[in-house]
Parts: sequence; structure tokens; C-alpha cells
Amino acid sequence: MKGIILAGGAGTRLYPVTKVYSKQLTLIYDKPLIYYPLSILMLGGIRDILIISNDETIPLYKKLFDSGNNLGLNIQYSIQDKPNGIAESFIIGEKFIGNDNVTLILGDNIFYGNLSFFYESVNEHKNGAVIFAYRVTDPERYGIVEIDKNDNVISIEEKPKIPKSEYAVPGLYIYDNKVIKISKNLKPSARGELEITDVNRVYLESKELKAKKIGRGVAWLDTGTPEALLQASSFFGVIEDRQGLKVACIEEIAYYKKFINKEQFATVVTSLPKSDYRNYLEKILSE
Ligand code: TTP
Repeated sequence: MKGIILAGGAGTRLYPVTKVYSKQLTLIYDKPLIYYPLSILMLGGIRDILIISNDETIPLYKKLFDSGNNLGLNIQYSIQDKPNGIAESFIIGEKFIGNDNVTLILGDNIFYGNLSFFYESVNEHKNGAVIFAYRVTDPERYGIVEIDKNDNVISIEEKPKIPKSEYAVPGLYIYDNKVIKISKNLKPSARGELEITDVNRVYLESKELKAKKIGRGVAWLDTGTPEALLQASSFFGVIEDRQGLKVACIEEIAYYKKFINKEQFATVVTSLPKSDYRNYLEKILSE
């Protein structure tokens, strides 16, 4: 399974900061936003990761993660010239994906809680597509999926004015290799984007789309607006301060998942500047 983080976009709702700065580099409590989606892929056991963004931001991500080698990862980078839509990820990532299956996560999507729904889906995945369904109070803002009693998908619509259900589709998707071909055959929508909902509809029509409900024990935060950023920062601030454990600490996850051994972990830790972040990792190292 390969992993893609789509981390470009216009970020218009976060103007003015996004005039000079990528949304996925904004701080969520104590680390950049992109650490959160990256940690989800890592926790799912995915080590080959492609970060897609615009040409201005790619150098900054490279500065943050380099090749990922020190964390036992293989991180590659590709440019998306313009925000032409989420489904363009698979066209840009064609070479990177090769003959494998692929999980896509959007760079501004955060999941917190028991993520077994995701780990199982990644491990079990063979054919078709898996999307998730999360109950929200504002379904008209999202791709919406209508599901029957047996979790079969009845319909899927992008930002419907009159939603058929309260279940939004989060920015986390698992596909087989056909997704490359399907994306290449898409036509841009009325808003000029290659829509991920259209990809999912192709899988639905060939009866290869599964939607798994995410329960109320999981927080799905999407951080597209200033309010949402503030809420996410407060949320993780409360959890981290209470437990003394960090969320989405990629060095800790690499060690915990055994992507790196203790010696490699120690090398990573001693390379960090003196900071609370380093103090935290030193504590993990000594435990
Ligand atoms: P959106 O929230 O749809 O768009 P945006 O980030 O550009 O923000 P705004 O609506 O305020 O203008 O994007 C969701 C995520 O996907 C976000 O992390 C950016 C990323 N994205 C791309 O990288 N390329 C794209 O073509 C699109 C549509 C989104």
C-alpha cells in the first residue's frame, strides 16, 4: 500500500495567511498541521509516501521531512501546478503508485481516537475502493454518502443543497490500482476540478465501493477555516497537557511502529534542537 498526502490547495478560507504560507504548515497546538495526516498513514503501517503540493511549498516540506529515511520512511514529492481537484493526485502520482494500491489523505484532515477502522481497511484491502462515513451537522459542506442498513452505498453526492444523509465522506480514501485509469478518464466538474466524488461514483457503478461508518469515539476534524484551526489546537492542547503524551509525534510513531530501532531513534532525538519536543522524545527514549 502506497500513501499520498495531498497538501496543496488555494486555502482561500484562511486568507490572508495563505497568501504567503501553506495551510498545512500552520500550527495545530505544537506541530504543523501536516504531521497529523502523515501520522495517520504511518500508524496504518504505510511507509512509502508521496507529498503533493505547489512548487512554492514543496521545498518547505522537503526541509521538514527530507527523504524520511531517518524515520524509516520513503517520502517523495510532486508538484501540483494548480488546485485542479483531489482526483488529480492519482494522475500526478501514477509513477509513484506503480502497480500498488493507494491510500489518499488530504493534508488538512485530522483523525483522533481508535483508528482500527482505518488499520483494518488498509490491511484487508485488495480490490475496489473504501471510503468512510462520518456523521456531521453541516452535510451540505461535504461529499455526502447515503448508506443502507447493511452499509451498502446507495448514492454519493458532492456538496448537495438538500443532503440525502448526515454522513460526510472524510478526506481519507483507499483504492486499488484502477484509480489511476479512472482518474485519467474523468472530465472536470462545473467548478473545473477533477472530483474525488466522481472517482467514487465510478466504483459505485461497478459495485466496488464500500463505505465504512466511523463511530462517535473518533474525532474527525477538518481544518479549513480559522475557527476550525483554533478548535483543533485547543482540542490537542487539552489532550496532550492532560496525558503528557503527544498526538501525531512522527518520531515517536516511527519508533513505536518499529520503522526504526532504538539506536536510530536516539540519533533522531539527539539531532533535534533543545525544546519541549526534544524533552518529550528523550523521555520516550528513556522509558
Ligand atoms: P479544500 O479544503 O477543498 O481547498 P483548499 O485547501 O484550497 O481551501 P479553500 O477551500 O479555503 O480554498 O482542500 C482540501 C485539501 O486538499 C487541502 O489540504 C488542500 C488539498 N487540495 C490540493 O492540494 N489540491 C487540490 O486540487 C484540492 C482541490 C485540494
